[in-house]
Amino acid sequence: MIKRIFIAMTVGIGIISFILYLTEKEETINKEVDLGVSIKYEPFKSNEDYLNIATEKFESWTIENEMKMSFIHPRENEFNFSKADEIVDYAKKNNLNVRGHTLVWGSSVPDWVKEKAVDSDSAKKILKNHIQNVVGHYKGKVDSWDVVNEAWEDDGSYTENIWYKLIGPEYIPLSFKWAREADPNAKLVYNDFNNQIINKKSKQMLKTLVGYKKDNIPIDGIGMQMHLNAEDPTFSPKNIEKQMNNIEKHGFQIEITEMDVNMKKIPDKESNIQSDIYTKVGEECKKSNACGGLTVWGVDDSYSWLSEKDKNATPLLFNYEGEKKDVYERLINILEETD
Ligand code: XIL
Repeated sequence: MIKRIFIAMTVGIGIISFILYLTEKEETINKEVDLGVSIKYEPFKSNEDYLNIATEKFESWTIENEMKMSFIHPRENEFNFSKADEIVDYAKKNNLNVRGHTLVWGSSVPDWVKEKAVDSDSAKKILKNHIQNVVGHYKGKVDSWDVVNEAWEDDGSYTENIWYKLIGPEYIPLSFKWAREADPNAKLVYNDFNNQIINKKSKQMLKTLVGYKKDNIPIDGIGMQMHLNAEDPTFSPKNIEKQMNNIEKHGFQIEITEMDVNMKKIPDKESNIQSDIYTKVGEECKKSNACGGLTVWGVDDSYSWLSEKDKNATPLLFNYEGEKKDVYERLINILEETD
């Protein structure tokens, strides 16, 4: 009798586990990935077509420049929130998610910091005050923050920015801790380029972030900027998949934060190469349990940071005339597809 009950229970548990497994699988397939875009203040204010595309065709906005330290904190006791506020308020009114970019970045350090931060203590004080003021100001409005941007070099060494030089690598976990104190609900992200595949830099990044996580440093996700060149022969969806699995295994979420595909070296502008790359990356993000969003770095080609350097870059989903490229529909179908 006891044996029969035991068998019945085992079979029962087996069936329940199988049902749970199927439900979980189902959720994975049905996961939606938000398509996001970075917003530049000037066209946001002055170009109606730009604003329409940005509002209608995307689900999340990243403030491209106006939250960077040089801009938002131009003098020691002065914060310049107004432009970012306008973008954030508009986004919220239109039910868009908002990504804050970026609290700590060696390439955006105002001059006053270079004068006032002279040792570890003064640098920590300045950085904490900066992070807590900015995050506090946008508490409940910014859904996810790129807390630290670009802290490692390709060879895996730390980038020698002012914070690293004065505070040491500790500036990274401290920044996350301070951000969390200022907004317990925002998603906190470490953001970088060339970390979508396994290489020296991304290995060092992940190893270090995993160590911080074990020490309860509040890092929720890893941002993959995903600035790609269409001609890059090393582009490999398989390797992106591997890295996404690797990151997921360590309990981090993933966001693709600044995607563009530079076409300047491709003579045949009609080729599908750009569309295929966007699509493949979109598929990997969709497949990964960890990847929740794909943001492109600009609304249309005329407002891409790459067009400033080379007008043949044409890296985005909308062309110079603000017309949708075929890739837009391909990508959105993948990201929104449900079974
Ligand atoms: C770029 C902006 O797109 C430009 O408009 C600005 O002049 C310089 O910064 N990685 C990042 C982004 O994290 O902040 C950069 O944005 C592009 C590279």
